[in-house]
Amino acid sequence: MPSRAGWLPLTAFLLAALLLPAAAAGQKQSASVSKYIGPGSCSATACHGGVQPRNVTRVLQNEYSTWAVQDPHAKAYRSLENSVSQRMGRILGLNPASSQRCLTCHALNVSAGMKGREFDLSEGVSCESCHGPASAWLGPHTVKSWTHEQSLQLGMLDLRSLSRRSENCLDCHLGTAEKEVNHEMIAAGHPDLVFELDSYTAIMPPHWKLPTEANFGARAWSIGQATQLRDAMKRLARHVQSPKWPEYAELDCFACHHSLTKPENSWRQERGYPQSAYAGAPPYNTAHYAVARILAKEVDASAAQELERDLTEIYRLIAKPDTGSNKNDLQQSVTRAGDVANRFAGAVESASFDRGRTARLMHAITAQAETLADEDTRTAEQAAMSLDALFISYSKEGGEKGEVRNAINTLFQQLQNPSGYSGPRFKEQLRRVGAALRDAGI
Ligand code: HEC
Ligand code: HEC
Ligand code: HEC
Ligand code: HEC
Repeated sequence: MPSRAGWLPLTAFLLAALLLPAAAAGQKQSASVSKYIGPGSCSATACHGGVQPRNVTRVLQNEYSTWAVQDPHAKAYRSLENSVSQRMGRILGLNPASSQRCLTCHALNVSAGMKGREFDLSEGVSCESCHGPASAWLGPHTVKSWTHEQSLQLGMLDLRSLSRRSENCLDCHLGTAEKEVNHEMIAAGHPDLVFELDSYTAIMPPHWKLPTEANFGARAWSIGQATQLRDAMKRLARHVQSPKWPEYAELDCFACHHSLTKPENSWRQERGYPQSAYAGAPPYNTAHYAVARILAKEVDASAAQELERDLTEIYRLIAKPDTGSNKNDLQQSVTRAGDVANRFAGAVESASFDRGRTARLMHAITAQAETLADEDTRTAEQAAMSLDALFISYSKEGGEKGEVRNAINTLFQQLQNPSGYSGPRFKEQLRRVGAALRDAGI
């Protein structure tokens, strides 16, 4: 799991080594539909391929260099050639470098009809994977009077909208019907998909001017949580419908993958199995919901109530052993939860965020120490990323307060060996974060 502190910007030396051939501007414009033309179309020095950020225009103009040198997305295709991918390919019986099952997320993989000109898959997840097909707006968007809205009309995706941005990231970081990382792929070697919009945006690294809006981080975190809950319900609905249900990637990984101890040392036996129909049945992975539920209580009380009802039902049905006979009930609950989550996402998007609300959310998370810590590693990880995001957002004006920062960092340290995770220790540490917040007068 990435933590923001782990990201070190590369040196100017490396950046300077990256003088790429200019291939830009003046592209032949597509008559109607915008098509994909590849990152080379954006890389001219006068466009997005500058080495240093510039201050003369609204954008930095070194986006290409930031992406190519520092962004993990630029090496997404190359990862398909590494030894882990090769082994994954052997286990799954496919060739990662050419299989649709991998290219769909690791490259700008579009149909021949959507290609405005030839480009190379090896460039990985590139500009248009996120910003949308560019052939229609590439030429005009370089004109000074051209507006963002005009580009949107020609097919650019509106990533300034945090909900659109979340959806775009989640397509690959959670999955869609076409883009799927299931337990079979994870068991073959694929990393588990974990996401939190604000943290992942911060470590991407950003190739845009950081927003000056107060409380932006808290808003990004909130919209990211609500969108993730909605899309997680869509994914669960797909998996429940599949003949391969139960899909282990929807269940609590560490219910099956924790290390065993003597009974007298087992915190799980001490906790009991409140989420399961019987001791030892793997429950639903609550990570997509556990923190979003706290946000719902703060922002939309009626949605929160309905979500509690539907999610409780989903847990109950998933933990039942006779999954065949209750599949219809489960499907209904998931569809209902999806509708409520959709409404909730709308409410969060129009909600306003101030420091008071951010502080309340941090306290509400630490107050749920017991539930969050007991729901195991992935949920604990969401709690840690959430407190991190909210605290950074809160502290923007006042600087980060030392004790709270240390206490949050310790949360991340406790997640470094996920199979050895201890619920009671994490609970204790969440309470320390709460105490540190109070001591700091927050
Ligand atoms: C087209 C698919 C796709 C989209 C869209 C996408 N990503 Fe990714 N992302 C990937 C892949 C694939 C990787 C793994 C790259 C590698 O290391 O090979 C990745 C890696 C990352 C990483 C590094 C994770 C780590 O463990 O270090 C971050 C951070 C990230 N993405 C953030 C984002 C954000 C934020 C968005 C939305 C603005 C986004 N991604 C949109 C496919 C995508
Ligand atoms: C649903 C989209 C999706 C699909 C499909 C997918 N991946 Fe990934 N892959 C990702 C994302 C997102 C990451 C980064 C995860 C993170 O760190 O949070 C990633 C990371 C990886 C990594 C680790 C990269 C690193 O830097 O260590 C490898 C290896 C990998 N994928 C190989 C594959 C192979 C092989 C396939 C096909 C069998 C595949 N992926 C299919 C989205 C996908
Ligand atoms: C993984 C997703 C992703 C990839 C890949 C990506 N971007 Fe972005 N880009 C974003 C996000 C998110 C923002 C911030 C939202 C915004 O300002 O529109 C952004 C912002 C920008 C901006 C500032 C826009 C503005 O109106 O302020 C420019 C310019 C840009 N990107 C160009 C590029 C170029 C050129 C590439 C390829 C070299 C690229 N991006 C690759 C996600 C991505
Ligand atoms: C219902 C139980 C169950 C759940 C839930 C589950 N797994 Fe597994 N997992 C297994 C089994 C069984 C294997 C195969 C183990 C073997 O053959 O040694 C496995 C294999 C794996 C492996 C490869 C084992 C290795 O030694 O490298 C990984 C990695 C893995 N799972 C990760 C996950 C992740 C991440 C999740 C949650 C998204 C998850 N699992 C959820 C049962 C489960």
